[in-house]
This record gives sequence, C-alpha cells and structure tokens, in this order.
Amino acid sequence: LDDGLARTPPMGWMSWERFLCNVDCKTYPDSCISEDLYKRTADLMASEGYLEAGYDHVNIDDCWSTFERDPVTNEQVADPDRFPSGIKSLARYVHNRGLKLGLYSDIGTKTCGGYLGMQDNLELDANTFASWDIDMLKVDGCFQDTDMMGQTYPELSRALNATGRPIVYSCSWPAYLDPDYGEANGGEVLKELAEICHLWRNWDDIRDDWGSVSSVIDFWKRNSTDDPFIQVAGPGHWNDPDQLMIGDNGLSHSEERSQFALWAIFAAPLIMSNDLAHISKESKEILLNKEIIAVDQDPAGHQGTLVWSSEGSGDGDYYGGETRVWSRLLNDGSYAVVLQNTHSMGTATKVKLKSSMLEGWGRRRVKFTARDLYAHEDLGEFEGEMVAEVWPSDVEMFIVELV
Ligand code: DGJ
Repeated sequence: LDDGLARTPPMGWMSWERFLCNVDCKTYPDSCISEDLYKRTADLMASEGYLEAGYDHVNIDDCWSTFERDPVTNEQVADPDRFPSGIKSLARYVHNRGLKLGLYSDIGTKTCGGYLGMQDNLELDANTFASWDIDMLKVDGCFQDTDMMGQTYPELSRALNATGRPIVYSCSWPAYLDPDYGEANGGEVLKELAEICHLWRNWDDIRDDWGSVSSVIDFWKRNSTDDPFIQVAGPGHWNDPDQLMIGDNGLSHSEERSQFALWAIFAAPLIMSNDLAHISKESKEILLNKEIIAVDQDPAGHQGTLVWSSEGSGDGDYYGGETRVWSRLLNDGSYAVVLQNTHSMGTATKVKLKSSMLEGWGRRRVKFTARDLYAHEDLGEFEGEMVAEVWPSDVEMFIVELV
C-alpha cells in the first residue's frame, strides 16, 4: 500500500508464538495476555537496545478482547480484567517510550481464538481502533468464507485510510487461500495485496522448531527467480514469512543465525516473539546485529532469492541436505549473500561463492570484496570466487561488492 508507511519492513515484537492465547493470569501472571505483558515488553525494548536497533512495534495478538461488543455503542471492548486501563492507555504507555502499538483482529465473525471479529463492523472497528491511537493492525482470516475476502480486505483498507490515522495494515488473507494463489489469474491476488496492505502472511503459522522454520525457507526456495511473489515485494508492500523464533526454545544457535540471515535476504518484517525478560546473550546478539538489520531494512526493498543450490549435483545428497547460495541486491549496488548448509549431520562444508552467481554469466566484473556480517570483519579482495566453511544447519553471511 503506497501511502508512505512501512517503506522498510516493519520491525518489532508480537505476543502470538510465545504467549499464544493464555488468558489464565491467576496461574500464569507473567505470561498471560494482559497489559502487564505488553508494558513489560515495551520497557525492555526501550531499555535493552531493541528500540535503538529498529524494533519499534509492540504488537498485541489474539485474545485481548471480550466476547461481546459494548451493548450501547456496539464497539469492541478489551477484557477488563486483563486490560484494566484499556488499549488507549496502553498505547500512551508504549508511545511514551518511543514505541508503537500494534493490535490484532479478524476479518470474520470471530478471531481464530473465538474472540470478537470485525465482520459487518469494519468501519466502526476501524474508527474505534484509530481512536485508541494504535499504529498497526494485523487482520486474521478465521471465520470468514475466503470468497468474501476479495471485498472485505480492500474495504477495511479504505476504512482504515478514512480514519486519517496512519495505521500499518497487515493482512492474513493469502494464508487462507489455496497454495496456488501466487500464480492464479496472473498473480491477481498478490497485486491486489500490494495495493491494499503493507504486509501479508504468505504461508502457515511458524512454530518454534527447525522443521517449521525450514519449511518457510523452502517455500522461498521454490518461489525464487522471476516469481510473482518476489516481484511484488517492495517499499510499502512486503511478504511476511512470520515471526522470528530467536530467543525461544526450539532452535539451536546455528538455526537462529540461519533464520535471522535469511529473513534479511527475504526483506521480511522482523517481528520477534520471545520473552525479552528471559533471553540468552547469544540470541540477543543475533537480534541486535546491526549489519544484518541494515540488509533487511535496505531502502531499495528488493527481496532476495536463491541463486544456486547443490540439489541434484550429487554433492552430499546421500546425507539429505544441500548447500545453497542466496543473494539480495542492495541499494548501493552491492549484494547481501547468505551461504546456507541444510545438512543436519557432518562437519563444516566448503561452499563456493562465484561472482557469476550474482550477476549472471558473461558479465565482466569478477573481482569482489567481501565482509562477514556475523564476524564483523572485512575479508579482503577475491578474484572470481571465494570459499567459506558452513556448518550443518548454519549459514555465513556477507556483503559482496563487485569491483
Ligand atoms: C492465526 C495467525 O496466523 C497467527 O499468527 C495468530 O494470529 C493466530 N491465528 C491467533 O489466533
């Protein structure tokens, strides 16, 4: 949606994957969906360097509302026990710390968790949410026939625009469609999404394990090169491969490094879902890697792709994995490059990066310099190719400049 918002992929934190729909604040006072959770997170984002690194959204997900609208005004209402001060006051709290507040709702009659949905009240709810001073709205797609979504998602986009408040609009519409929606009717849905939403979820919900994160990465492998999914991404309209699992329980250090590096190649929103009060030094260091964040936030907004893989080459196929080269063209003409090793056994594999992988065969420029974005180190100049050792389930990431 080209209205000046989300010119780079949104960054922040969202409660969903880590805190789900836990509404039992008696048993779980520290992890239930309540204003305390969002306030605590906002405090930590501001004090622990996350805001400074660019993570500026605190996003409420499902299960914040009551089950019934206000009998007089028909407006949505926050659960009074868990959000005693209300959403508007929470927005003020978050804004006072220099952060933005995101809210969640559903285009259907109910949210996936069974709470209030927006169907038949799109304009009213858009106005209510705007009057609460929210800055972002994720709109889920449970409890609505997908045939209606071609009308309802654009209608809500217009209603949000009409409120006059800048609100980043995240649409879950495509996550509810048949998987062939990208190509169907010449990529019609993707074009529509780019016009009406700032970001949209392409694929299944991410979970806190490597199998789930890998399945998202494999989706982007399948949809590389000249694909409508890649073409449609850019300033104001982003594909959303879902939350970062960094700082949770399911990924190894190597897998966390892989998710972060590849999300930056994908020009993905960087939305954490973790408990910032309990996070390891190593995970925090990954999340605060400013050089990788700069790749993600590159102003040109080109989504990167897979440019080479060892699949079918016989190289290590027996061990059920492959080595891959991903690249993303940056605004200054350099490339962000990720070398990935998807094997889950063995030791480090030597992976070759050739300048021809970046610009195609027949180009003149073969000399390049490389900088390692995890080691924060310039590696010097190379002639045609460089070789890096990449551990199983891990990546190495570089900025490559052809000279
Ligand atoms: C499905 C969405 O894809 C998730 O991200 C989360 O918002 C849940 N619904 C909430 O019920």
